[in-house]
Amino acid sequence: MKYNFRNDYTTGCHPDILQALIKYNMDEEDGYGDDRFSKSAAALIKEKVQNEQSAVYFVSGGTQANLTIIASILKPFESVIAADTSHIYVHETGAIEATGHRIQTIVSSDGKVKPADIQLQLNKFEEVHTTMPRMVYISNSTEVGTIYNRAELVALSEFCRQKELILFLDGARLSAALASSENELTLADLGKYTDVFYIGGTKAGTLLGEAIVINNPKLQDNFLYHLKQRGALLAKGRVLGIQFLALFSGNLFFDVGRHANNMAQKMAFSIANLGFSFLASTTTNQIFPILPDKIIEELQKDYLFYIWRSVNEQASAIRLVTSWSTDESAVDEFINDLKGYT
Ligand SMILES: Cc1ncc(COP(=O)(O)O)c(C=O)c1O
Repeated sequence: MKYNFRNDYTTGCHPDILQALIKYNMDEEDGYGDDRFSKSAAALIKEKVQNEQSAVYFVSGGTQANLTIIASILKPFESVIAADTSHIYVHETGAIEATGHRIQTIVSSDGKVKPADIQLQLNKFEEVHTTMPRMVYISNSTEVGTIYNRAELVALSEFCRQKELILFLDGARLSAALASSENELTLADLGKYTDVFYIGGTKAGTLLGEAIVINNPKLQDNFLYHLKQRGALLAKGRVLGIQFLALFSGNLFFDVGRHANNMAQKMAFSIANLGFSFLASTTTNQIFPILPDKIIEELQKDYLFYIWRSVNEQASAIRLVTSWSTDESAVDEFINDLKGYT
């Protein structure tokens, strides 16, 4: 096997992060997020989010962030509205439903949620006979590699506030989103327009970890208790603090996203030049070219990637994902091999 384009966590962690972990390895610190690294990383993130009221918490993974956020905020009879492509609906083994909350899905071809779709779900609410829609879950970048522009986020935010819905943005792939050539959003925008969001480290060069930012003070109540009860409050919280400090002390978070995006977009450009189309148009590190099944079979001999879905009897969309660690030579080899098969 030559290269693995299955996801953005095929390698360990960025060398700068590993260096930081080594540097502070022998320092003695308090546990459960009371270490100086977690405190500094939280303060740094808060500074970038530019919301005095925000609170920052670190957890180890995306599913854990999603289920803890959703279950801590919603009352037992409340539901969350999300796209039918959303990670919480498709790829979390029912983790959200296992906390007792229904996910109300909207059909989405580009992975995004729009106010009109939310309204359709609100129309289904029948007082005491149905679950009460209370939260809207979106992701940026989405599970199909697309991103929200400012107008879309502002419209969602205004709609949610008007309807008393909580807006939650899953940022497992935020590094790629904010580093996209078409991105219009900042961390400060997320601090202003969402009630809660998280910043993914796992897909941005950390060994593991996500930083949850709760902007709405009403939702911060006892959040540490929710984390602890769900096994999400790590005794060695320092591991997360050190990594996020390394990610945000300089520009690493954005540099990592930019490199990953550049590699995927280089592939997309060459694939498009060969005459192939794509399932979705993306500017991030996930691309979904539609290729003849015969060519896919050939590529599978040398490369790992997911077949996303069949498009017709002879062709399928595949998902290619690049990361901070993708070497340009891997991209060039893939393109050359693909050329050889066409
Ligand atoms: C939008 C989104 N949320 C969350 C996750 C991560 O979940 P976990 O770290 O539990 O695998 C992913 C990973 O693919 C994702 O794409």
